[in-house]
Parts: sequence; C-alpha cells; structure tokens
Amino acid sequence: MCKLINQNKLINKNFQLSLSEIEEIEVQKSQYEDNRAAIIEVLKIVQKFRGWISTDSVYAISRILNITASDIEEVATFYSNIYRSPVGRNIVKYCDSMVCYITGYIEIKNFLENFLKIKTGQTTIDQRFTLLPTCCLGACDRSPVIMINDETYFNVKIETISNLLEKYQ
Ligand code: FES
Repeated sequence: MCKLINQNKLINKNFQLSLSEIEEIEVQKSQYEDNRAAIIEVLKIVQKFRGWISTDSVYAISRILNITASDIEEVATFYSNIYRSPVGRNIVKYCDSMVCYITGYIEIKNFLENFLKIKTGQTTIDQRFTLLPTCCLGACDRSPVIMINDETYFNVKIETISNLLEKYQ
C-alpha cells in the first residue's frame, strides 16, 4: 500500500509552505515529544490550506519535522483522506468493501461514473467533483454507503444519487 517517492520527480528546492501553515505546524509539533506522532495532523494542516499534498509539500514537511520525505510519503499514501493529487471542490467516495459489494456498490459506482462523466480517481472538468473508492465505512448494516465530503449516506439508491449531488456545488 505504501509507496516511496519517485526519485526521478523534479523537486522545487525553493518551495516553501506559507507562514500560516508553518505557524499551525509548530503548534501541532509542540504537542508531541516525537515529531513522528504529528505527521498525520501536519499533513491535514497542509491539505486544509492547499487542498492536496504535493511532493514539494512532502519535502517541506520533512524539513520542518526533521523526518525523511519517504517516511512522510508513507503516511500520506496510507491514509485515504490525504490526497496526493489535486481534487475537486467535493469528494464523492463509494465504499467498495465486501458488504457493499454484496448490496450493489458496483451499480452505484457505474452510475456515478456515467453521471459525472469521469472514471474513479478522476475529477470533473469543472472541478466540482472527484470520485474515489473507500474501504469499509463501518456502516455495513446500512449498505451500500457513499460519502460526499464529510456527509455519509446510507442505503443508497441509484434513483436518489443525482438529487444528493445537487446539494454540492
Ligand atoms: Fe461498506 Fe462496510 S462494507 S460500509
């Protein structure tokens, strides 16, 4: 699941995080004895400012936390809520774990891909939606389940999805 940084990727050595980001990171750092414990929260801070975590951001975080970029990358890649490429204004996730498979997530995925005119992992041209899979959301008894941003929708029916999406501009 984890992947190392592509060593061939060009890194912008002059890239810097903003002062606001650095301030928030320093506050977060001060709450832990070991900087490693702060990695995920620091990634969330940078994502809050930038929408996603670029490789340049990984290296900038690495310098601030004094932890190798590969270690930062491993954490960033492990957590599905940390985005390693630019995403749209709204993130639509469908659960593709076993119970949702049984209760029909594939039809939901196909509907979403057709309706949004993108494949999973892609973003609509207007930057409105990014479509992603997610593992079990812990609501198997109310599957199939999708998430749009922080909202979870249970017992999803294809007929209701377009109305749900309307709420998210
Ligand atoms: Fe989908 Fe658990 S398998 S919510």
